[in-house]
Amino acid sequence: MLKSAIDHKAIQFEFAKKTFLSFIEERKHFIPYLRPEKTPVLCMDLDGIKRRYIELKYHFSKFNVYYAVKANDHERIIKSLAELGSHFEVASSQELSKVLQAGVSPNRIISSNPVKPPDFIEYCKEVGMDRFAVDSYTEIDKIAAVMKRARVYVRVVVPNEGSDWPLSKKFGVDLDTAIDLLEYAREKNLIPYGITFHVGSQCNNFRNWFIGIRTAAELWERARMRGLKLQMLNIGGGIPVKYSYEALSIEDIAYYVKGLMQKFFPILPHELQMEPGRGIVGDQGMMICRVIGKAKRGEDNWLYIDTGVFNGLAEALGGIRYAFYLDKEGELKEWTIGGVSCDSMDVVARNVALPEPEVGDYLYILSAGAYTTVYAAPFNGFPVPEVIFPQG
Ligand SMILES: Cc1ncc(COP(=O)(O)O)c(C=O)c1O
Repeated sequence: MLKSAIDHKAIQFEFAKKTFLSFIEERKHFIPYLRPEKTPVLCMDLDGIKRRYIELKYHFSKFNVYYAVKANDHERIIKSLAELGSHFEVASSQELSKVLQAGVSPNRIISSNPVKPPDFIEYCKEVGMDRFAVDSYTEIDKIAAVMKRARVYVRVVVPNEGSDWPLSKKFGVDLDTAIDLLEYAREKNLIPYGITFHVGSQCNNFRNWFIGIRTAAELWERARMRGLKLQMLNIGGGIPVKYSYEALSIEDIAYYVKGLMQKFFPILPHELQMEPGRGIVGDQGMMICRVIGKAKRGEDNWLYIDTGVFNGLAEALGGIRYAFYLDKEGELKEWTIGGVSCDSMDVVARNVALPEPEVGDYLYILSAGAYTTVYAAPFNGFPVPEVIFPQG
């Protein structure tokens, strides 16, 4: 009986409204930008990104933060983080080139993509960047063919349960393979440098860090027994942000990770790395789009917007549940939000509680700072969101 009395639509809309209002309250200088003439627009808060980096450095004080450029590769973000002394994680020649252009020294850059295009490895050699993740013999062969004495770190697989964007199916190896790979790297005249894992992006499960660090410690010890002197542990990304639900805080994750490090690594590796992407930029951006249509299909209320999964909201396809806010009052209904293209896969969200929208209304999509514009393409001729940085 109690259950049916709960107004899920009101709870959902209130959550989105509160998130929107507190986002704007902390960024009053965004107010003049809330009704842009041209949409879609991604409004990013550069100062917020800097504060987030500083917060991470403060709580993870023993770690070097390598910003995962893939989350949002905008030059202004890279430049601002570079000025604060951030390190960077890149996957491609283009990302590497952007980071170098921001004046970052190659010894502050790593590449943790376990499978890299050969021409990217060549480019790394050319610029003097020599630290790479691996999880296969082929990758070690590829690197060894280009560079002598490059430093390689092995990616071990850890569970990604409770992570909204799991990454463990495509990459990572078990402990036995990992130790063999490190030995193989040594035979190939590379430097067995360290260990990495990824708990899955948007990770809301402490246990993944527990298994990751415990697994890394076991591998570290096995490597030591085989005479391999590793130097570096990289705990990947995974720091979550608030979408249509709360997320673990940086402070809590850092506290937990610190405890795990004390338990499993009484002697700390020479370098500790983390490579957050979403956790730095995710909730520092808001997408503004407009309603372009409405329809009733059977029982379903459809609402169509001028962006979609192809031009900014790709993660909606794989489990990210954005919070949507419409600045109106009135009875709440549940809506299916369709993207702008004519592809029927282009559905951004279902069961979204909103007051009745009208064509032309602005719809605000919170926490759209990560993995949006970097995925966007002008499919069907619809523009990718313009990125703006309102200044306070
Ligand atoms: C190798 C690697 N490192 C770091 C990241 C960043 O992860 P997140 O955005 O969850 O912090 C990713 C994300 O895909 C990744 O693949």
